[in-house]
Amino acid sequence: MKDPVRIAITGGAGQISYSLIFRIAAGDMLGPDQPVILQLLEIPQAMEALNGVVMEINDCAFPLVRDIVATDDPNVAFKDIDYGLLVGSKPRGPGMERKDLLEANAAIFSVQGKALNDHASRDVKVLVVGNPANTNALIASCNAPDLDAGQFTAMTRLDHNRAMTQLAQKTGRHVNDVESLIVWGNHSATQYPDISQCRVDGKPALELVERDWYESDFIPTVQQRGAAIIKARGASSAASAAAAAIDHMHDWALGSDGIVSMSIPADGSYGIEEGIIYSYPVRCKGGSYEIVQGFEIDAFSREKMQATENELREERAAVEHLLG
Ligand code: NAD
Ligand code: LMR
Repeated sequence: MKDPVRIAITGGAGQISYSLIFRIAAGDMLGPDQPVILQLLEIPQAMEALNGVVMEINDCAFPLVRDIVATDDPNVAFKDIDYGLLVGSKPRGPGMERKDLLEANAAIFSVQGKALNDHASRDVKVLVVGNPANTNALIASCNAPDLDAGQFTAMTRLDHNRAMTQLAQKTGRHVNDVESLIVWGNHSATQYPDISQCRVDGKPALELVERDWYESDFIPTVQQRGAAIIKARGASSAASAAAAAIDHMHDWALGSDGIVSMSIPADGSYGIEEGIIYSYPVRCKGGSYEIVQGFEIDAFSREKMQATENELREERAAVEHLLG
């Protein structure tokens, strides 16, 4: 058995966490030989509910769980953590866009960025799930000047997974047959789920589907999937969001099987300027991720990649005062 690692999960009493924490505790994120110490953060009003969650974790008698910390102080929750899953924040309701949450949630991520800077392990890997995830990750990163910006990522893996299934179902294949699908840009309705580089069972995806289906059905369905779930469930996605968070952290820590989509600091690759957290195709190996270079970008893709970059720049401008 390895030494335990410390994992902070914020919003520990919320609906995503109710799935996420138990899967992490079961070993789904870091493997069956990796003991964990869970450090759960909530706001004071939700501490009683969080204590209920702690009681349930204890009642599972998980072999991998070595300790549980439940707190309303980010300085305690982030002490020495190796992994930080920043989920805690308000979800949107029907009729809202995720960026409508910017004002309500942005302050959370400046406070938490500072606490990560002061208390987390110097190698911490941070995933922001709380919306608008990309810009919240930027806020956290800018408030943590002693950590590398590359340690802050945001979640577009849910969009990636959604797109994989849409394409697999359309082509009558399984998600295991789909490779090199890319989600570019923001976790928002401007994201660009791109199948132009994608192969299904070894064949180019664009030869298997009609162009009209790709442009008028697939892209909007993936872009609007979060809203469709809110409409159907009366609450935003939770178990699928938790599954995507597990996939994101699992691959970052232990390596990915092929190309996956991660929102990471833009570094100029594919003409996307630095200063925003943008979803790219990456490969993960040995605890790091690397942008997959060399894809040819046609005019259709360029326009879509630009539109989602523009939105991220607008979001950044709206929170300039929180960027330190
Ligand atoms: P929820 O309301 O069920 O839970 C959120 C929890 O966060 C609550 O228990 C709340 O008390 C807590 N919280 C609020 N402020 C906090 C703070 N400062 N510190 C610690 N905890 C705090 O919401 P949910 O359904 O679990 O969703 C959480 C967030 O994740 C929302 O912003 C939602 O939009 C987002 N989300 C993102 C994705 C994605 O793909 N990136 C997917 C689904 C949901
Ligand atoms: C999702 O994509 O399901 C989440 O970001 C929740 C939402 O607001 O759509």
